[in-house]
Amino acid sequence: IDIHVSSTGGNASSPHMYGLMFEDINHSGDGGIYAELIQNRAFQGSVPFPSTIYPWEPVGGAVLALQNTSVPLSKALPTSINVSGKGKIGISNPGWWGIDVKKQKYTGSFWTMGAYKGKFSLSLHSNLTHQVFANTVLPSKSKSGKWTEHTFELEPREAAPNSNNTFTIQFDCSGESINFNLISLFPPTYKNRPNGNRPELMEALKALNPTFLRMPGGNNLEGDVSRYPWRWNETLGPLKDRPGRPGTWSYQNTDGLGLLEYFHWCEDLEVEPILGVWAGMFLGTEEGHILSAEALAPWVQDTLNELEFILGDVNTTYGALRASLGHPEPFYLRYVEVGNEDNLNNGGPSYSNYRFPMFYNAITAAYPNLTIISSTGDFTALGGSGSSASWTDYHIYSRPDNLVSRFGQFDKVSREHKTVVGEYAVIQENKKNVSAVEWDLPKYKNPVWSGAVAEAVWTMGAERNGDAVMGLAYAPGFQNLNSYQWAPDLISFTANPAQTVLSVSYRVIELFGSNTHKETVPAVSNSSFGPAYWVAGTNGPSKYVFKTAIYNSTANVPFNVKFDGIAAGTKGKLTVLSAPDGLSVNALNKEDGTGVVVETTEKRVQDLTAKDGGVFGFELANYEVAVLTT
Ligand code: AHR
Repeated sequence: IDIHVSSTGGNASSPHMYGLMFEDINHSGDGGIYAELIQNRAFQGSVPFPSTIYPWEPVGGAVLALQNTSVPLSKALPTSINVSGKGKIGISNPGWWGIDVKKQKYTGSFWTMGAYKGKFSLSLHSNLTHQVFANTVLPSKSKSGKWTEHTFELEPREAAPNSNNTFTIQFDCSGESINFNLISLFPPTYKNRPNGNRPELMEALKALNPTFLRMPGGNNLEGDVSRYPWRWNETLGPLKDRPGRPGTWSYQNTDGLGLLEYFHWCEDLEVEPILGVWAGMFLGTEEGHILSAEALAPWVQDTLNELEFILGDVNTTYGALRASLGHPEPFYLRYVEVGNEDNLNNGGPSYSNYRFPMFYNAITAAYPNLTIISSTGDFTALGGSGSSASWTDYHIYSRPDNLVSRFGQFDKVSREHKTVVGEYAVIQENKKNVSAVEWDLPKYKNPVWSGAVAEAVWTMGAERNGDAVMGLAYAPGFQNLNSYQWAPDLISFTANPAQTVLSVSYRVIELFGSNTHKETVPAVSNSSFGPAYWVAGTNGPSKYVFKTAIYNSTANVPFNVKFDGIAAGTKGKLTVLSAPDGLSVNALNKEDGTGVVVETTEKRVQDLTAKDGGVFGFELANYEVAVLTT
């Protein structure tokens, strides 16, 4: 294939091409990136997910009971665990399917109520060998009829060989009983944020060179059977004032990872937030799942309050609240998305008729500089009062062939009303004569290489139209391998950081996200697209980025890529990703024997030299994804 890449004549590209989407699904928040090690730390419950003692276990014959005491720890956390018995008794917690124990400082706290003048012993030990890695003893401050907080540190003498470890609190009991609540333990977090995130998962995100974070959903924004959307104001402040909520994905959310933490996350990764706000539609289709205009009005006001919390100065009510929580400066926010897939669940007509316009009109009146994104699921941009002034969020879950066939999908979309691809992924294998995903049939267990190549092809189609597409985010981003609702996912993990798996799709995004261009330039060939697909861009004179992928070829593909303005002898670097030898491109990732998938992408880097006329010659095999930079 001969391709001629011009130095000018293309479109300005989006500075946000590769981003992130996050919602608490697959225990990606609680039990995931949110670094809290204790599972069910505060016995939070809701209608679908009642308070439970699980996974706490009694120690030394203790008798455990959930109690709603007449004096609660707080209005938000009314339920505690009563521990009674005789002798050295206590409670233990196995963490989120394990606790990673390293030679580092763990900081913990717990609240108690009940007269007790003795000491509390706290430890981290192995479930298998019972070896104690860290312990400390704390004088009790516990009193009858009043809640008291205890804080402590644990510093293991050595690292545990695996994450099959438990945290224990014990005390000497002579017949009295003690209530415990909000029992928390944190390892060091990313950038040492109090109440922060797991470092290695944040580092995995950082390595993608992301440019935006769309949060807090996804479906988890909307709420399911219990009619309880994500409520920003219940995710703020001291943990004892956060009630948690019934998450959409079959578990209770602690809301320890709240609005402020999401914005810290954006600051720490230096990414642009895309804030999702609920648009008056719960999941499901039963009567009442879509709010009337009258019922929606207070929620529109609630969104204005949330925006004041994020953007208002310290003299505003909610700006002052933000300042009282340690962030006097307004946060950086330019994009607000109204709803999530509001075309679904019979939501489309009400969304375009009144729900979206209500939010659009109110938000743009108060914050004219914000860009509003509608979640219509397609390329329809909505606006207030019948106009089409917003951007739009397009989602696609697909099969490899189908995604590749959509390479040109963005060529004709609106330049005026940009598209954000808030969620995309290949999730099901090819099927003869069936292009759409069949949601009642199994999805891939994890991303496969043919799917990752198809994603590469399709995202290059978006890059070619970087003036129309603001950016793309693979979804879902995370999967706790011990408990998940949706596969395939970008990053899989367990309690043990050594078991984190960066998927084949991750490797493509990492390569493409690390090689972006400012301006898309014409890359013209006498060959048409398929089986080779490509996009080219520049970052200034002689600084080219050429991306390509080969999908479904019967032979190797030789390339001669000529760049305008490149002299013979100029050096180039070709990075090629492929499936490893011996593994089918349609194979699910290998497992390491403990049920943990292992990485399967191969990468090779080649130095190239331009021939006369600024031509780089190279050859790629079927199902290879490559980036050439000069
Ligand atoms: O990414 C998983 C789910 O897929 C999201 O919650 C939802 O927006 C989409 O339907």
